[in-house]
Amino acid sequence: MPMLSILRDRKLGRLLPKVRYPYAQPYVKLSQRADETQGKSIYEMDPSIYDQYICIDMEKRNFDQVLSSIAKHTAKKNEGIKILDLCCGTGIFPRYWLADYRVPVTYVGVDINLSFLEFAARNMQSRHDFKFICEDAAKVRADKKFGKFDVVIATSAYHHIKDEEKVNFLKNLKGHLRRGGIGVIYEKFVASFHDPAEAAKSGSDFYSQRIADIMKEQKISETQLFALHNELYLTSVRKDEYKVPYARFALDMEKAGLKIVNEIKLWPNDERFNDPKIGDFVIEFR
Ligand SMILES: C[S@@+](CC[C@H](N)C(=O)[O-])C[C@H]1O[C@@H](n2cnc3c(N)ncnc32)[C@H](O)[C@@H]1O
Repeated sequence: MPMLSILRDRKLGRLLPKVRYPYAQPYVKLSQRADETQGKSIYEMDPSIYDQYICIDMEKRNFDQVLSSIAKHTAKKNEGIKILDLCCGTGIFPRYWLADYRVPVTYVGVDINLSFLEFAARNMQSRHDFKFICEDAAKVRADKKFGKFDVVIATSAYHHIKDEEKVNFLKNLKGHLRRGGIGVIYEKFVASFHDPAEAAKSGSDFYSQRIADIMKEQKISETQLFALHNELYLTSVRKDEYKVPYARFALDMEKAGLKIVNEIKLWPNDERFNDPKIGDFVIEFR
């Protein structure tokens, strides 16, 4: 709260409040404080913030589709399935979508953020068949320990990999798929950009539309609202979130030797962006 002191206006002879902000003292202190707080990403904060944020209806629908895609491509496997989850984050998907799957699941989650992984593991303590590895998803060789996988998923993962590493990430994903296995990516694609200013516009247009739709659909908490705006910021300045247009993704898939077999657009369900390839997609590929 600003501190108030009272000043007398000489001309009008009345008492005016003078606002003295607590931080308006030595300038150096202000900039130090800004350094500590500004520009922080939700991926550097307590994992529960991300975990809460992701529990919104729009994300749940997207995860439902990821599960449907897995189920469709593994319908004949009744003895169980082996799933690799690259950039698994706080483990929302295994915790809520895989824990009671119709057949036994051997699950391996990989993430580079140890505190997210600890959170994921803590929340799945009773499931010793669900393993977590802390490593770079573009380099990890989970197949050395666990063999190849029936399914490899990457939900909101590709856009966290720096542009120059994206093809390596996809090649590594491919290297973990067994013959006849299926890959499922859930990804957000933005409008194309050629410089930082266009990237900022592309990212903020995407998230301002997304946030408005989420708020129209459901009441969200202050933490969720904060996290959504943090994503808008990260996407716009391309820090931690390196979202790209669909065309760049399609090219990277080709370079990695992966073939898209189906894609489902989940949001938006109208033509507001003019480009139908902007939005949330679940992509099935081999
Ligand atoms: C948006 S979260 C997605 C988490 C989870 N898949 C989900 O859908 O909720 C992106 C995750 O990618 C992780 N990440 C970023 N770069 C990575 C890398 N090179 N290797 C492994 N994980 C990475 C982050 O730590 C973060 O947990």
